[in-house]
Formats: sequence, structure tokens, C-alpha cells
Amino acid sequence: MTADAISLRPAREEDCRLIYRWRSDPVVRANSFHTEEIPYDVHRAWFAALLADPSRRQFIAEVGGVPVGQIRYALEDGDAVISYSIEGAFRGRGLGTALLAALRDALRTEPEVLRLLGNVKKGNTASRRAFLKAGFAEEGPDEEGNYRYTLAV
Ligand SMILES: CC(C)(COP(=O)(O)OP(=O)(O)OC[C@H]1O[C@@H](n2cnc3c(N)ncnc32)[C@H](O)[C@@H]1OP(=O)(O)O)[C@@H](O)C(=O)NCCC(=O)NCCS
Repeated sequence: MTADAISLRPAREEDCRLIYRWRSDPVVRANSFHTEEIPYDVHRAWFAALLADPSRRQFIAEVGGVPVGQIRYALEDGDAVISYSIEGAFRGRGLGTALLAALRDALRTEPEVLRLLGNVKKGNTASRRAFLKAGFAEEGPDEEGNYRYTLAV
């Protein structure tokens, strides 16, 4: 499971349950800006809308064909606002950092994306480290202790 072998593929309808499982992980929920449990039906409707929305894109990260995490973005005035996670068993091996780098590489050919932007909640040291190692500039903390990371594409 080496980080340099990570690849991104667009998410498909059949990834709905996988994304739900990752989104429901207590560590992911705790580090999210929306910590509430999400019923599967609500998730399914959200996921269908996500796949149909041209301003948002969802990717599955794989290493050797094994899904190891996910990253998505929503386009807001030239900023690709990122949300990402790595499967619990695969954390701490450089994959989170590699995932951010892979998204940056994938977006180099997207003229509407000028910058990547990540918002990191107070206390999420792993994500802060991943953004910094992937070359993002840090702003913060703000008055709530959260950080913002940006990288020009
Ligand atoms: C954030 C996340 C994607 C990072 O993925 P990862 O594969 O574990 O990251 P990496 O292995 O590339 O490690 C990044 C850095 O964080 C550090 N780190 C990893 N786990 C850590 C932890 N629990 N506490 C503190 N630091 C940690 C690593 O040591 C590394 O820093 P270093 O190289 O300076 O030692 C992953 O932890 C995750 O899915 N967390 C839950 C969801 C989440 O927080 N998403 C981001 C929302 S902004």
C-alpha cells in the first residue's frame, strides 16, 4: 500500500454505500463541520444530487485496485473546496497527503479551477499535516480554532 501508487477515479452510483460507510466513521464525523449521524436515505438522495451536479465532483482513491479513500470538491468562484478522508485501516501511511497531491494533478487541466481550498476543524492535526506536506499555504487559526489551506492550481 504505497502512497505513490494512488490513483483517482470518478465515483459511480454503486459507490453510494462505500461513501456512506466512510462518512459514518466516527473519526470522519468528529472532524467534519456537520457531526450529526446521517440516515442512509438522506445520504442516498444527497449522493444522487452530487453525481448530477456539474459544479461538484467526487473521486474514489485506489491503490492497486483497492479503494482507500475519497476526495470531492465543490466549485465556488474558482475555488475547489475540498472534502476528503482515508479508510481508517489505511491512515498514517502518507495516503492522505498523496490524495491531496493527486487531486491537484487531476485539476491542472480544469480551466475553471484556480485554487484548491480546504477548511480544517480545530484539533485535526492529521489533516493539517497532510495539507502542509502537500504544499498548501496555511491561514489561521480563526476565532474558532479552525484553519484554512489554499494551493494555486
Ligand atoms: C486527515 C486524513 C485524510 C489524513 O490521512 P492520512 O493518510 O492519515 O495522512 P498521512 O498519512 O498523509 O499523514 C499526514 C500527517 O498526519 C500525521 N498524522 C496521522 N495521523 C495522525 C493522528 N491521529 N494525529 C496526529 N497526526 C497524525 C502523520 O504523522 C503525518 O504527519 P508527519 O508526516 O509530519 O508525521 C485521515 O486522517 C482521515 O481520513 N481523517 C478523518 C477524516 C478527516 O479528518 N478528513 C479531513 C477533513 S479536513
